[in-house]
Amino acid sequence: MTAPVVTIDGPSGSGKGTLCQMLAHQLGWHLLDSGALYRLTGMAADQRGIDLAEESAVAEIASSLDVAFIPGEPGEPTRVILDGADVSTELRSERSGGLASQVAVLPAVRKALLQRQRDFAQLPGLVADGRDMGTVVFPQAGLKVFLTASAEERAERRAKQLKAKGESVNLGALLGEIQARDERDSQREHAPLKPAGDAVQLDSTGLAIEEVFQRVLTLVSTRFAVIDQGD
Ligand code: DC
Repeated sequence: MTAPVVTIDGPSGSGKGTLCQMLAHQLGWHLLDSGALYRLTGMAADQRGIDLAEESAVAEIASSLDVAFIPGEPGEPTRVILDGADVSTELRSERSGGLASQVAVLPAVRKALLQRQRDFAQLPGLVADGRDMGTVVFPQAGLKVFLTASAEERAERRAKQLKAKGESVNLGALLGEIQARDERDSQREHAPLKPAGDAVQLDSTGLAIEEVFQRVLTLVSTRFAVIDQGD
């Protein structure tokens, strides 16, 4: 039996990450944070002093990433170990997001990460978080959601997260970075950020994460009703 897959795609700050963690936890399914693989590739290349435009060298890093994801307790973030070192904090930084966005434009890197991502589809099921989960990586997924929110609201959410970590925040600069990354992610030639033709589109602007979670959970239980009945 093949594992059921739910894909959640959308721009950064749309609430995908939190939503996917809540879903995976509720359903008892595996979680793929595909953005983390792009971030790790960018970080590893940067650490080794490799020029991020050197496509084959960066792809080599992507295919040989020595990484472990250690799930946290419910509500706790997953710990990420790269080459034996805990990089969980650095992974979530704006800097690693920028590095990820640069390596994500390289087709050889996307290709190198494809099978690694597909290997996450294991029973009892998978929640896959990314930009091209429904369009490229899991085109046969049983449920595809495309989650958006206005750039202003995404910048405000990010500012709140950074303030909670005690970091200083420039809202205008954050908004500019988010818009630049959206532009790069949606305009790139390979696997651009766009909804799959059969995706359910959900705008989370003005919605609490709990409301988004309940809506998606309803979709999951409708789509996967057969599985829930144990057939
Ligand atoms: O979701 P995130 O912020 O961790 O993603 C970091 C970058 O990686 C983002 O700029 C786009 C890229 N990415 C991608 O191209 N494809 C994915 N499936 C996931 C992320």
